[in-house]
Amino acid sequence: MTPHNEAKIGDIAKNVLMPGDPLRAKHIADTFLDDVKLVNTVRNMNAYTGKYKGKMVTIMPSGMGCASIGIYSYELFKFYDVDNIIRIGTAGSYSKDLDLYDLVLAEESYSLSSYAKIQGYDSNIIKSSEILNKKIIDVSNDKKVTKARIHTTDVFYFDEDISDLYNNKKCVCTEMESFALFYNALKLNKNATSILTISDNLVTNKRASIEERQTAFDDMIKIALDAIVNL
Ligand code: HPA
Repeated sequence: MTPHNEAKIGDIAKNVLMPGDPLRAKHIADTFLDDVKLVNTVRNMNAYTGKYKGKMVTIMPSGMGCASIGIYSYELFKFYDVDNIIRIGTAGSYSKDLDLYDLVLAEESYSLSSYAKIQGYDSNIIKSSEILNKKIIDVSNDKKVTKARIHTTDVFYFDEDISDLYNNKKCVCTEMESFALFYNALKLNKNATSILTISDNLVTNKRASIEERQTAFDDMIKIALDAIVNL
């Protein structure tokens, strides 16, 4: 047990899906898993372990931002011996060509976050797991998935220089967690990646409704779960 997770060691699967929102974790467990067990309730970060197509998987929410996912993913890797974490989240698009509901697979994250720097890492870019990315592409079939560099920001309410982030830093979209997740995986020799659904477009200002988000989110969940089954 940790200060943030009361699950017993064997209650957490080797493969974890991490949405940001605890209610989304519940939705995934209710909709897609069999034999579900609630394994953590600390801070309402309710985590569920169950079976998908016969394979054990844990769904644990990350909360928002690098600080929050940094804690939960570190503990899963370090103390629960988790091997693979796939973040499933939403992102804001920096391009007219990357439309609402499109899926992005984060090949690497660019960030000015201090999360890795404080720990001695000397770059603003961290790669995700090639093994996980390959599985995700393998199971995505006819669904278009754009594999690209993403931007992880620490600040949501900020007038970003989108043109610089897109044209110079080569980031196609923005979110708030992947950089810390990828750093923990790198540091602890584990695997992590992120699949993101575009929920808003920062160029056209189009925004998905809450119901529309849910459907698009379910496509992404199935891809992530199928990738885990194939590991
Ligand atoms: N910024 C940061 N994170 C996000 C956004 C955004 O515009 N949209 C979805 N997640």
